[in-house]
This record gives sequence, structure tokens and C-alpha cells, in this order.
Amino acid sequence: MCGIVGYLGNKEAYPILIKGLKRLEYRGYDSAGIALLNKNGELNVYKKKGKVSELEAFAKGKDITGTMGIGHTRWATHGEPNDVNSHPHYSQSKNLVMIHNGIIENYASLKEGLTKRGHTFMSQTDTEVLIHLIEDIRQHENMKLGHAVMVALNQVIGAYAIVIMDKNDPDTLFAAKKGSPMVIGIGKDEYFIASDASPIVEYTKNVVYLEDEQIAIVRRGEELKIRTIKDKEITPYIHELEMELEAIEKGGYDHFMLKEIYEQPRSVFDSMRGRLNSETGHLKMGGIEEYETKFSNARRILIVACGTSWHAGLVAEYLFEEYARIPVEVEYASEFRYRNPVIYPEDIVIAISQSGETADTLAAIELAKSKGATIFGVCNVVGSSIARATHAGSYTHAGPEIGVASTKAFTAQVTVLTLMALHVAKVKGTIAESRYRQLLYEIEAIPQKIEEVLKQNELIKKIASTYQHASNALYLGRGYSFPVALEGALKLKEISYIHAEGYPAAEMKHGPIALIDEEMPVFVIATKGANYEKVVSNIQEVKARKGKIIAVVTAGDHDVKGMSDHVIEIPETDETLVPLVSVIPWQLLSYHIAVMRGCNVDQPRNLAKSVTVE
Ligand code: F6R
Repeated sequence: MCGIVGYLGNKEAYPILIKGLKRLEYRGYDSAGIALLNKNGELNVYKKKGKVSELEAFAKGKDITGTMGIGHTRWATHGEPNDVNSHPHYSQSKNLVMIHNGIIENYASLKEGLTKRGHTFMSQTDTEVLIHLIEDIRQHENMKLGHAVMVALNQVIGAYAIVIMDKNDPDTLFAAKKGSPMVIGIGKDEYFIASDASPIVEYTKNVVYLEDEQIAIVRRGEELKIRTIKDKEITPYIHELEMELEAIEKGGYDHFMLKEIYEQPRSVFDSMRGRLNSETGHLKMGGIEEYETKFSNARRILIVACGTSWHAGLVAEYLFEEYARIPVEVEYASEFRYRNPVIYPEDIVIAISQSGETADTLAAIELAKSKGATIFGVCNVVGSSIARATHAGSYTHAGPEIGVASTKAFTAQVTVLTLMALHVAKVKGTIAESRYRQLLYEIEAIPQKIEEVLKQNELIKKIASTYQHASNALYLGRGYSFPVALEGALKLKEISYIHAEGYPAAEMKHGPIALIDEEMPVFVIATKGANYEKVVSNIQEVKARKGKIIAVVTAGDHDVKGMSDHVIEIPETDETLVPLVSVIPWQLLSYHIAVMRGCNVDQPRNLAKSVTVE
């Protein structure tokens, strides 16, 4: 949460920073701000509540020159979203400015000490406290800025990715991180700093991922220097970025979310590419091979995740239990980390995260690690904190997901988890060879089946227009479709602000049925499979109470059509793979409803893509 950018080089910083902030806006969009040092040594700071475009309008006509600058887009934690609480924040003398992503947990005690020493604060933020502390140490200990940053960071409890600029040093930026991500791009005579690589990719492919408790000293005309906060010198390891610019642009779509929904035939294919060969029956899961025996002997698997990734974890629970006969528990990472869970050293923990930065998931991993469990990551963002904190893992390879509502990450996660479960089942011998082979063929056909569903976009849009004014919605599914019901409800509520709930279809009669009347749309997955007849009975129960039924059915099913208000047909597939196809209509439906209601689809209110606070 919060996006940070910095630039130091020979170009004008402002356009680079603004473009970078727009790319990072998915991380928070409560306010935006910028600081630039012009050639006369004047420090200009502009900040504004709202989006980056509002900052741009505000800065129009003002002095926006300078070849060094920093910028920030905020997801508010301490202090309401307003101009004053926006970053960058000044030190007491106003000689230093800082941007920050993260939370300084002990800011209150630090602030108290500084106030006693005569500091006054303009904002309610924890960030302002930290930059005051750095200046205070620098003045009282008569230290260079780099050392003062080091001393201050040793006093801080919490998470930070910070960039600091000194009015009296036009050639240096200091950047440091702990818990929040930071990437440094190395160009020709120029440096870029950002929360992720998206603001950097069009200028250079050479990047350094800063590690926790490291400080980067970015100096004009000099090589990048890195030291730890314990003052140990580190040799920067330069990675080559694999990301392409097109992957982070809308490519002709109105919204990133729609682009990402349409990318799914490709992203699901990419998540199995090089891993699956249905001809030979070969399944190669790089990350898992080393831990094959551990997986096979695992007493159980614990899955930790949040939000949509947690829903993917629920699908994985069904898959691992069915294919590999290993008991699975799926935990909200935020609950798991605070409830003294029983964790055995023989446990395998699978942490699922698109961003790889979710604070609760990271904390759950650390807890499980401390108890000796083996941690396996399923992440989308390469080099992310979770990917680095786990013992091994498999990337989902969905490509950058920028729309705040997760779509292609979910299907990629489920694909990877399906391959993992099958691989373990094969190693354990819990699946018949013929079934294993049949499933490999079925999985390979999924991208084509998703393509078929996408062709029904116009029908889904029409259904969306019928229900765009609904105040409530119920999503039902059983078995493998239950997690998809939860995911459908989450998609609708987060981008259209319609209250929606997902339920296992049979649970409806234990409470939610009381909500059903002629105003209530009920979205049901009623595909052919073990629970089909039972779901049909649940549909009848809804109809008997005049609820509206919108059903996702297997192509050619006329029975459910006869009792539904609308049906969306999806191609037949193995029951265990249905979530990969049946989630698509719910994604499109939420998208269209949100657009029709005039909501900001890619940046829904109060949300951020990467939840780096607990
Ligand atoms: C919903 C959504 C969130 C995330 C959750 C976990 O559309 O995007 O619920 O799934 O915040 O994020 P990651 O997967 O990055 O750990």
C-alpha cells in the first residue's frame, strides 16, 4: 500500500515521477505528492488529496523543474486522506523531505520524545515523525545524513520503504526498506527508485531489489552503494527485468480489469507452460521436486492467504484432499498469525499471494517457519517478499495484475495448485494413471474453454444491465463451486459496492433463505457433477420464494434453463477443474455492473492492490 518513486539523473524528473505514480496508483489513491529540487537549490513540494491527475492539475503552471525528485501515492493509515497528511513530509528545518510506504508502529513514543525536544508536527502521520527523528539525530550527533538514517532506522519498529532528499545535496537520494518492497533501476547516468518495476521498465531492465534493513545510497555519477542498517557494506546484485512495457498498459481496453479478464486464456496457459506435457504424462513442478518426499509424508497441509488468494486456497483444499489424500486446512493469514495455532515440523504450509507482499500472509509464514514447518509459496510477483521468505515455491506467471480486483491471478493460482496436487498425488500413488492422464488433457484444454466463455460477454453484459440496481446479491455453489461463489460475491461487492454474500448452496436454508424475495438476484453455479441434483433442489427453493436465478450451467443443460431467469453456458470439463471456467462469468458480470453504476473499476474506493499493512 502506497506507491513510491524517485528519480536522479540528467532528465527532467517531473514527467518520469508522474508517469511512475500513475503506474503505482493501484497501490493507493487517497492522495499524491511530489518533491523536486530545482537548479537553484529550491525545494518545491506539491501535494494534493485525491488521484495523481489532481496533483498534476494542481502543479500546472508551478515550478516543476529539477533532475532529482521523489513522489508518492497514498493509501491512508495514520491520519485522514487530506493535503496535509499527503507525502512527501518535511523535517523540522524543512531541509529534508521523505516519502514512505509502511507503518512506523512506535511512532507515538518517538513523537513524544521529539516533541519534548521542541519538534512541531504539521500532520498526523507516522512518516513525519521518522523524518524529524532522522534530522534530530543528524543535528545532535553531528552525523552525515546516511549515518543518521542508519541510527534512526535502528530505533524504528514497523515497516518502511522510504526515500529521502536533502535540499542541500542535489546529487544524492537515500532509500531504505524493511517489510515494504523497493526496486532500484540503474540506467545510463540515472537512477530510478520505485515500489515495483512498473515505473522503471521503459527506461532500464537493470534492477536491484533492495533487501530488508538495507539502505541504498544513490549518488549522481557514482555506482550504487548499499549498506545494511548495521553498517555492513553489500554488493548490489543486478537482476535483468523480464517484464515488458505492454504488460502494464491497457492495450486498448477501457480498464485493466477487463484486459486482465480477457488475458486469462493466455495467463492460464503461461502458468502451465513448461510444466505439463499431456503426451508424455510428465508434470514438472520445479519448486516442488526438492520437497517431494516432504509433501508425500506431510501429516497435513496448511494453506495461508487472504481475500481472493484464500478462495484459491479453498479450491486447493478440495484438490489436495481428492487427488493426494492429504488433509488440508485453509486459514485466513490474519487469523492464523494471532491465534497460537498448532503447527508441526512435518507440516507443509502453502502461502498463496498475488502480490507477494501481503503483510498478514508474510507474518503467518514467519510464524509457521519459527515452528519448523516447510513453507511453499505460490506467488505472482517475481522476487516479492513472500517469494523470498518461503523455502521453495512455484510462480504463477500470470503477468502483472494491475486492476485492484483480482481476476487472472485467481485462475493462475488455481492452475498451479491443481498441477501441484496432481504431482504430489502421482508421487504418492493416490491417483490412478488413467485418471491422472485424463486430467492432464483436461487441464490443457482449459484456456480454450475460457475463450469460449469470454465469447458470451454480450449476454453477460445484458444480464448485468438487468441487475445493475440491485442492493443485495447471493452467490451459491457446492463442492468445487463453493469457493467460486465466495469469489463471485467478493468481486461484486468490491467493485460495484453492492452487498453480496457467497454461501455453500445447502447452507442457504440455515439462514440466508430469509433474505430471498422478488428483489434478490441469486447467482448459482449448477454445472453437471456429483452435486448437480442437490443444487437444482436449491434453485427450486429460491424460485419458490420468488428469487431471481442467474445460473452458470454446463453447455446443453436444458433443465436448469427451464427454471432460471437467465443462464450462462460454459463448456463441460472435469468437475475438479470447473472453478477455472465458472469464475469467468462472475468476473465479467461484476465488471459490467460496476461500469454501469459508474464505479471506478480499477481503483475501487478504500482498497489497494498490495496490502502491506495488517
Ligand atoms: C480481491 C483482492 C484481494 C486480494 C488480497 C490478497 O479482488 O484482490 O482480496 O486477493 O488482498 O492479496 P495477495 O494475493 O496479493 O496476497
